[in-house]
Amino acid sequence: MSRKIAAFAIVLIAAMVTASMLHARPSKRFDERTQMCRIINEGRLGWESQPWGLGNQKFQEVCKSCHSRDNDQGAPFLHAKSYVSKGWNRVFARRNMECAENGSWDSLTEEELQIMNDFLFRNAAWTYDPYGAESCG
Ligand code: HEC
Repeated sequence: MSRKIAAFAIVLIAAMVTASMLHARPSKRFDERTQMCRIINEGRLGWESQPWGLGNQKFQEVCKSCHSRDNDQGAPFLHAKSYVSKGWNRVFARRNMECAENGSWDSLTEEELQIMNDFLFRNAAWTYDPYGAESCG
């Protein structure tokens, strides 16, 4: 009987640890272009950086018009998990890929790009790691 209780306790603890890891997404993002620390887990930016917010909306509308799976634009398939958080920050800070330089991003405002960066940063590969991207440095 007590072994059953112990086994149950172990399963419960494992489930709680897993759940807490899944929730530990980055809460802040340092934006190199504006030199600002953006709080992305609350308020308007918190909302807009969720999958249903403006960041993903614009990502689907503009970027995914080329970067969809099996597209005929010669663009690699991209989704939020294509890069880790810092990788996405680099993409938006440098903007040195062909599509950024040839004007394919120009329909987006600076604010939309920042919010898209917030969304991708927050939902990037490995974002469940509690020690991963939780930093402004
Ligand atoms: C008009 C089509 C088009 C649009 C719109 C577009 N891209 Fe691209 N993108 C490309 C192509 C084509 C390449 C590959 C260029 C090359 O061969 O180096 C590329 C390359 C990239 C790369 C480098 C990928 C790699 O693996 O080397 C990134 C990152 C990227 N795009 C991000 C974006 C983002 C973010 C957006 C939206 C803001 C976007 N792109 C919009 C066509 C597009």
